[in-house]
Amino acid sequence: MTIRAVEWKDDYILLLDQRLLPHETKFIELRTLQDVWDSIFELKVRGAPAIGITAAYGLALWVSTTDFSSFADFKDELEKEKEFLCSARPTAVNLFWALERLMTSIKDVSSVQEATERIVQEAILIDKEDEEVCRQIGEHALTLVEHGDTLLTHCNAGGIATSKYGTALSPFYLGKERGVTLHAFATETRPVLQGARLTAWELQNLGIDVTLITDNMVAHTLKTKNIKAVIVGADRIAANGDTANKIGTYGIALIAKSLGVPFYVAAPLSTIDLSTDKGEAIEIEERHPDEIRTLANAAIAPADIKVFNPAFDVTPAQLITGIITEKGIITEDFRTELAKLFS
Ligand code: MRU
Repeated sequence: MTIRAVEWKDDYILLLDQRLLPHETKFIELRTLQDVWDSIFELKVRGAPAIGITAAYGLALWVSTTDFSSFADFKDELEKEKEFLCSARPTAVNLFWALERLMTSIKDVSSVQEATERIVQEAILIDKEDEEVCRQIGEHALTLVEHGDTLLTHCNAGGIATSKYGTALSPFYLGKERGVTLHAFATETRPVLQGARLTAWELQNLGIDVTLITDNMVAHTLKTKNIKAVIVGADRIAANGDTANKIGTYGIALIAKSLGVPFYVAAPLSTIDLSTDKGEAIEIEERHPDEIRTLANAAIAPADIKVFNPAFDVTPAQLITGIITEKGIITEDFRTELAKLFS
């Protein structure tokens, strides 16, 4: 059975607390906008599409549980709460994309009741669409592999990072349905171990042969383990194809290029941000130093040691073999081809 990380329950959001995995599978109830903000900031929910879906449901929850004195008051408050949610994490563009989509859905509306209904419906639609989009990404990704192939992935771009199926892990889900056996190498993904805690757990639950490695084993593994390709997700793809994803992705892309291993990014159109011209313009989130000073809550470094903790890096487009979206795979002239996807 596939676990859904985020579910709309009309008067609350049911959320899988991903910080507790793999030891505990616990669902929590989000009942306020502050609960939603905290969940995104604290990584109870993470992964670009799942963040977008949760934020959309967060705004839907807030509009449907708040009283407003007038439509003008509603619109002012809505804008403020939207901005508040946007401040939870800066890099994954799906957060901004999903909330902007809700705002667009009420452009021609003049009553609070109608606006509330539309926002709730739009949030549900974003969630439903993401499932189909991820499935399509998997369909396209499957055309790149054969029965028995091994793929290496980084971080977690799986079902729990999306509505269902994931992006980089979608070919594993679809392959499983069709009897196409794929093997996986998953990097542990320091500092907060999304690869070890989430990807290894998710693929193992799916019945996929998955091997966990530490992040510093990538070069040796790509060189010696007959890896067909690297496949990762994305938090934001700029107009020229430069891709922000979990810290460490850039290093893996450099290694893959040097060893001649194809490097694919799997992401929905909602992760492509044509308004960001190139990678340098993407804001990179820096997180708390204790993520690096500790491991599983135990200190592993001097308590006050200076730390640099960027949560993401940017892989330049020239290191990317192809970008797999729901509309197909693009492999060259990313700026032109990405723009075409939206025309
Ligand atoms: O900090 P996280 O766990 O939210 O980072 C997640 C990633 O970098 C994923 O690879 C990306 O969001 C794609 S999820 C389909």
